[in-house]
Order: sequence, then structure tokens, then C-alpha cells
Amino acid sequence: MTLDKLTIHQPDDWHLHIRDGALMKAVLPSTINVFSRAIIMPNLDPPIRTIQEAIAYKKRILSALSKNNSFTPLMTLYLTNDISTATIEKGFKEGIFHACKLYPANATTNSSYGVTDFDAIENVYKIMESIGMPLLIHGEVTDRDVDIFDREKVFIDRHLSNLLYKHPKLKVVLEHITTEYATEFVQSSNFDLAATITPHHLHINRNAMFEGGLRSDFYCLPVAKRENNRLALRRAATSGKSCFFLGTDSAPHLRKSKKSSCGCAGIFNSTYALESYTQVFDNENSLTNLEKFASINGPEFYGLPLNKKHVTLEKKKHKIPEFISLDLEDGSQEKLVPFHAGEELSWKITKVG
Ligand code: DOR
Ligand code: ZN
Repeated sequence: MTLDKLTIHQPDDWHLHIRDGALMKAVLPSTINVFSRAIIMPNLDPPIRTIQEAIAYKKRILSALSKNNSFTPLMTLYLTNDISTATIEKGFKEGIFHACKLYPANATTNSSYGVTDFDAIENVYKIMESIGMPLLIHGEVTDRDVDIFDREKVFIDRHLSNLLYKHPKLKVVLEHITTEYATEFVQSSNFDLAATITPHHLHINRNAMFEGGLRSDFYCLPVAKRENNRLALRRAATSGKSCFFLGTDSAPHLRKSKKSSCGCAGIFNSTYALESYTQVFDNENSLTNLEKFASINGPEFYGLPLNKKHVTLEKKKHKIPEFISLDLEDGSQEKLVPFHAGEELSWKITKVG
């Protein structure tokens, strides 16, 4: 039987860079019109390192929503070498933080305040383990002598394995996984370990960055890997296994910041994220598992209820624009390139509610 219409519980985005200020206001609609909740990444500049900063950031997000929109931002705390365990405990117990984000220092955009010595924050892992607070990890080593395509695997072998053995009850999400090695590590783990998978890592391999020239629109971190990894990620996402769930890692950078001799890392995909994932599930003959990946596995891991509303998708071809224009608050116009720019997608959201 071929499905051409599908209704699922409303999904959540378990990994999102919504930014701040005018850029946030410009990109917010694409998320809040489809997703009910999102884990908001704290890598602003400067990052979200205190309860007060998280409350203020959440307020800025909420005040940008229209009155009838019930989108819920789930805030996270940016871990540093000297973050206080009192902030972690109080912030989590008071429902301000839903997780802590661990960026290895200098691994990616705005990560210079990140952690330089993973062993030095043992007290952080201990408190998080005892209160049941999820630890979200950008799982790449930053050593310049480790090949960029191997950094995820080396992180798992050098750091993640030990962390899980030392803290067997710690809830961990290995974010935006990119390798077959990571899919196998996560699904065979006996610990409380899950992983998010982005739309772009399901669609592109590393060739995309070099097709006909250097294409920064496909540059993100962790970088896309060889084709066998993309295929493994597709098997993992569409498997329905509870350890894999949706996290777009949508990371908008203005066109001018991408189109540079040192283009920023990040792919802006939230505009058509659900449609993009749906296409993968359709291609893999696994549409019946889309709801687990998009709407069920995430809330189960985070201990949150399923969303009550539903989203309907229909098989209808539509073309993705080359650019999305942004009217910034200062009156200027900017451009963002959405993921799938200029391509055709075969699924369209036709109802949310
Ligand atoms: O490509 C990425 N962009 N990866 C990250 O980890 C951060 C993100 C960003 O904030 O731009
Ligand atoms: Zn991210």
C-alpha cells in the first residue's frame, strides 16, 4: 500500500538554534508553525550560563510569538569549566532548564566558552545524574591532529564510553550524529543514551560540500561524512528505535556570513524540516515509523507528555525557494539559504491542529 496522506502527533524539535534579536524573529515562524516544543541551544554570544539569562532569553522568544501560538521553548544551560552545580540543580528543579549542553571548547559556533577538560567537571555529571537531568553533547574532539572526519568516533572512544561507565544513570543525548559508528554505539548501549539526527545528515554526504566548487551551504558541524554513514543514519532514524529522535540542528547564518572565505558552520533547515524527514521515511518505505522518530521517542526520553495536536502531511510536490528574504528590524534586508534550496520536495504539511 502506498501512503499519500499521513497524520501524526505534533512533533518537537529536540535540537534547535533559534538565535536572538532580529534573526530570531525572522526564523521563529518556521519552527513554531509546525513544532510544539523545541530544545533551545544556548550558544548565543555570550552564551546562556545563568538562570537569569535563560529566563530572559525564554521571555524574548515568548514575546515574539503571536497570542494564539502555544509553542514552548525548552531552555538549556551552556556548560563551562566553572559552571556552578547550584545553578544546575536549582535551574532544573525549578523547571527553567531541561538539559545542559556540553560543547568541547572551540568545537563549533560560539563554543569558545565551552569545556576544555571533560574530567574537570565530574561534579557536574554527578549532580545531573542524581537529579535525572539530560546532558546534551556535541560529540567531537577538537584536537587538530585528529582528522575532522574522525572526530566523532574519537570522541566516543576517548570520552563518551568512560563518561557512561562512570555515571551509569546519567541521561545523555549524543547530538546530531553523523557516523555509522555512532548509530551502532547508541543502539547497542545499555546506558540511558539517545541520539538526535538532522535532516541534512540524512540527505547529504560529504560530496555535497565540494560539488562544482566549495559549497558552504552544506557545511555544518559535525561535517557530513561518507555515504555509508548517511545510509546508516537513514536506517537508524527510520528504524523506529526509541533511542533515535528528531533534532534539526537548524542553524541559520546570514548569506553574507556563509558566503565568505571562512564561511560559518550551520545549515538552516527548519523551514521544511518535517517535509524533509518525511521524504526520507517515504524513500525508505518506513512512513509508519515517522511518528515515533518525530513525536514519540523524544518526549519519552525527556519524560514529557505527547503533544495533543496533530500534523497532517500530504504527498504533493513543491519547490523550495533559492533564498528566504528577511526583513530585519533595522529596516535592512538579508537572505538565508534554506536546506533543499531550488529542489523539489514531495511532501507538504496541509494541516496543523
Ligand atoms: O553546524 C553547526 N552550527 N553546528 C553546531 O554545532 C553549531 C551550529 C551553530 O550554532 O551555528
Ligand atoms: Zn547544534
